[in-house]
Amino acid sequence: MGSRPTPEQLKKLASEYESKSAQEILAWALDTFGSKVALSSSFGAEDVVIIDMMAKIDRSRARVFTLDTGRLNQETYDVMDAIRARYGIPIEVYFPDQKEVEDMVRAKGMNLMYESVKNRKMCCEIRKVHPLNRALDKLDAWITGLRRDQVLTRATTKKIEIDSAHDSIAKINPLADWTSDMVWDYIRENKVPYNKLHDQGYPSIGCEPCTRAIMAGEDPRAGRWWWEEATAKECGLHFDPATKKFMPSKKLV
Ligand code: ADX
Ligand code: SF4
Repeated sequence: MGSRPTPEQLKKLASEYESKSAQEILAWALDTFGSKVALSSSFGAEDVVIIDMMAKIDRSRARVFTLDTGRLNQETYDVMDAIRARYGIPIEVYFPDQKEVEDMVRAKGMNLMYESVKNRKMCCEIRKVHPLNRALDKLDAWITGLRRDQVLTRATTKKIEIDSAHDSIAKINPLADWTSDMVWDYIRENKVPYNKLHDQGYPSIGCEPCTRAIMAGEDPRAGRWWWEEATAKECGLHFDPATKKFMPSKKLV
């Protein structure tokens, strides 16, 4: 593992690596950042593809963390265990701060997310964003399963970015240019364990109270926070407070 690349070096690498394959990007990330890079995984279809690739590159260096909001579906816990069993890699689980959750539910109730966008964002902030910040504090780079065609706010996602919302560490999105069909072809060809809710009309899976199945013809993210306007539908994991925009990190290319 070399030393952490400077933002200038990352900028150069980002344009060079934009045309590389997902496996090449992941191999570069593991070589460059060693134990200071990890996949942020919700165990959705994209994330399990990345886990399979990382395990095939070097199982001993594949670090995976997840944010357990306390409100996940049983099927999500099932796929976490299936992944542990299949690849023999530990899953680093981050929970929300106990006091923050206790204060929030005491003041606002368990189902606050349905009452207002403000409440919903507070819940996401406490249950997802704060634990993410804790996980990223220890890293020089994080890997995500973001794809450009998932939602308009992700259309400019690059494979290597500088994450200005998180101390300018690197954010690596190896599947940025993949389509959903490519993800599912990979899962089938490599027999990768996946969340069974995907077979029940859930293309995108978050927390249980905030995700429903979609109907034929609906947008793949229509089931996320389905009661809200489409423009509000990001939870803050990929939100830059500096620009106040629900956008991927700073574009480099
Ligand atoms: S979200 O922001 O709307 O919740 P989405 O479900 O599309 O995100 O997932 C996009 C990427 O964000 C995933 O591929 C993963 O890298 C990361 N992510 C989402 N949810 C979690 C989670 N609970 N734990 C860890 N990473 C997550
Ligand atoms: Fe809370 Fe729903 Fe956000 Fe999960 S997705 S953290 S339950 S508001």
